[in-house]
Amino acid sequence: MFKASFTRGGNMTDSTIQDQIEALQTQIRYHERKYYIDDQPEISDQEFDRLMKALESLESAHPDLITPDSPTRRVSGEAVLGTRVRHRGPMLSLDNTYRPEELYDFDQRVQKALPEQAVEYVTEFKIDGLGVSLLYEEGKLVRGTTRGDGVYGEDVTTNLRTIRTIPLRLTPIQPMPAVLEVRGEVFIPRERLDQVNRQRIENGEAPFANARNAAAGSVRLLDASITASRPLDIFIYTLSYVEGPDINNHTEALTRLAAMGFKVNPHTEMHASIEGVIAYAQRWTAQRQSIPYDVDGIVVKVNSLRQQEELGATAKSPRWAISYKFPARQVTTQIEAIEVQVGRTGVLTPVAILSPVRLAGATITHATLHNEQELIRKDIRVGDTVVLERSGDVIPKIVAVLTEKRSGSAEVVRLPDQCPACQAPVQRSAEEAAVRCVNLACPAQLKRRIEHFASRNAMNIDGLGPALVEQLVESGRIRDVADLYSLEPTDLATLDRMGDKSAQNLMKAIEGSREAPVTKVLFGLGILHVGSNIAELLIEHFSSIDALAAASSEDIESIYGIGPRVAESIVSFFQQPTNQMLLKRLKTAGLQWSTGTDSLSVPSGNFFAGKTFVLTGALSVMTRSDAIEKIKERGGKVSSSVSRKTDFVIAGDSPGSKYDRAIQLGISILTEEALIEKLSS
Ligand code: IVH
Repeated sequence: MFKASFTRGGNMTDSTIQDQIEALQTQIRYHERKYYIDDQPEISDQEFDRLMKALESLESAHPDLITPDSPTRRVSGEAVLGTRVRHRGPMLSLDNTYRPEELYDFDQRVQKALPEQAVEYVTEFKIDGLGVSLLYEEGKLVRGTTRGDGVYGEDVTTNLRTIRTIPLRLTPIQPMPAVLEVRGEVFIPRERLDQVNRQRIENGEAPFANARNAAAGSVRLLDASITASRPLDIFIYTLSYVEGPDINNHTEALTRLAAMGFKVNPHTEMHASIEGVIAYAQRWTAQRQSIPYDVDGIVVKVNSLRQQEELGATAKSPRWAISYKFPARQVTTQIEAIEVQVGRTGVLTPVAILSPVRLAGATITHATLHNEQELIRKDIRVGDTVVLERSGDVIPKIVAVLTEKRSGSAEVVRLPDQCPACQAPVQRSAEEAAVRCVNLACPAQLKRRIEHFASRNAMNIDGLGPALVEQLVESGRIRDVADLYSLEPTDLATLDRMGDKSAQNLMKAIEGSREAPVTKVLFGLGILHVGSNIAELLIEHFSSIDALAAASSEDIESIYGIGPRVAESIVSFFQQPTNQMLLKRLKTAGLQWSTGTDSLSVPSGNFFAGKTFVLTGALSVMTRSDAIEKIKERGGKVSSSVSRKTDFVIAGDSPGSKYDRAIQLGISILTEEALIEKLSS
């Protein structure tokens, strides 16, 4: 390794000092590359800082020897935004496809335009960030521009210089091109965005809605020192102009770019046919959550530059490339109205009625706004344009309001003082965020209780959805869940859209639900705070609903994982005479009331049997309930909190405090990928 002689005293001429400065710069550039680009640091951070300090002190003693491409000059002065720059060639966009089959059509078009020629494809990630163009002359960065409208971009050189993975001076290769323009995508790794957002919230600033906005916002700041503090990164995806060496194909260009010190994405692959491309698209669709930065799809490119030229481009996009977009996880849409729903426990929830949008493979029309505080905190109004996200969970959520798109007529909505279903006055409590209708006879609550009772994770009564519940309650045919078990086919015959066949099926489903295990019955009762995991813990401990009904708050709290709030809610439920009567009728109807023989059928002898699992974070391939069900089918237990009894914690994306606790207790962590592998073996 180069040994700097900067500590040596004596009279040095400017030319030896210049040599030293250059030698230090070369050394620092080398280590920056090792650290930021190759991810293989060779020296410690302290050693690196020492080199940097040495260079800084030499430069400050000899300011005339400072060059703009010195590693000390990443943050240099104030950015002058707003300078429009015309791109050398337009920065085209890509044609998008949304179904893997459409890639066959792309292949057909390419084959047709290149008859009798073998075509090789390259696949890459489509990074979801900010497209930029970088111009180098004699190996030095002279200009960086945003993509802008594709023809004109904005000069953001000062800010882009602060990104450590953008070389200010290139590593020389032979032959070294005199002029070179590359294009790439600036992004912020997901985990780093969370840190930035936590900091912003602490500072009272609005968090960024997503990594793309954060990257774009950071590159377009007036103060480059703030840009420098943002964890920005870049992947270069194309060599758009080069004066000098002949290059025959895209992969060769990428290899050269990497040799010159650019950061290129390591997940690029070559394929001899479109089948390989489709397999790549499918593989990464399933694994996208494992990528630590946002990728919104894949890009397919014809590898040969000669063939690219032959294929040409339309005004908008090249004919030699196409993107396959993953099902979106984030979209924008408009709030058409805000409705108030009454839940089974009487809680009033504001719900946004949205202009329908496709998101992650489903059409979304509603999103919960949780509670009044949330409505106020996010300042969500009717008419607003909002960013909607579906992460591992199936439930879409509004992550941000685009206030800049708000019109003057956007309407503020607050929860009413009267229940919208029964007009009883609502209760607002100081310690709870919830606004409640406390009228036990409220028909809206009753409908929700029945829907919950019939739902898949409870009694699983197929066919008994909200529309039917609405009719059954409104027509007075059922007044509580026990009435379901005395329904006659004639009760159903006169209902809307209820043919003989559906009536028979529903009767069968109700009949079948008498066999649902006691844990499902308990969960189905809809006791406040008793979810399916807690129901299982309770039955595991008490074995029957009667034993639980007779238990004291202390008895219940003695179960690990159950706190006083839950225990109190259970005791209060069983104390109410109306509930006692309901329970009696359900028991008489023949529902399962205690653990019977079902524990004998628990499978054994596989990885999951007898082990306890805790899930944290968002899963991307499976849904959470799917994962839980599959673990249980194999004889595993799923618990809601991490303790020494936990065998494995399954960590999805952005895992929470359960993950930290697992690390503390030394509990093994499984990724979603590992879980899937275990499930399928
Ligand atoms: S190639 C002419 N490759 O996607 C083809 N673009 O709609 C130019 N992008 O704004 C694009 N990752 O900034 C290409 N691996 C990749 C990319 C990529 C992200 C962005 C690009 C542009 C948009 C194209």
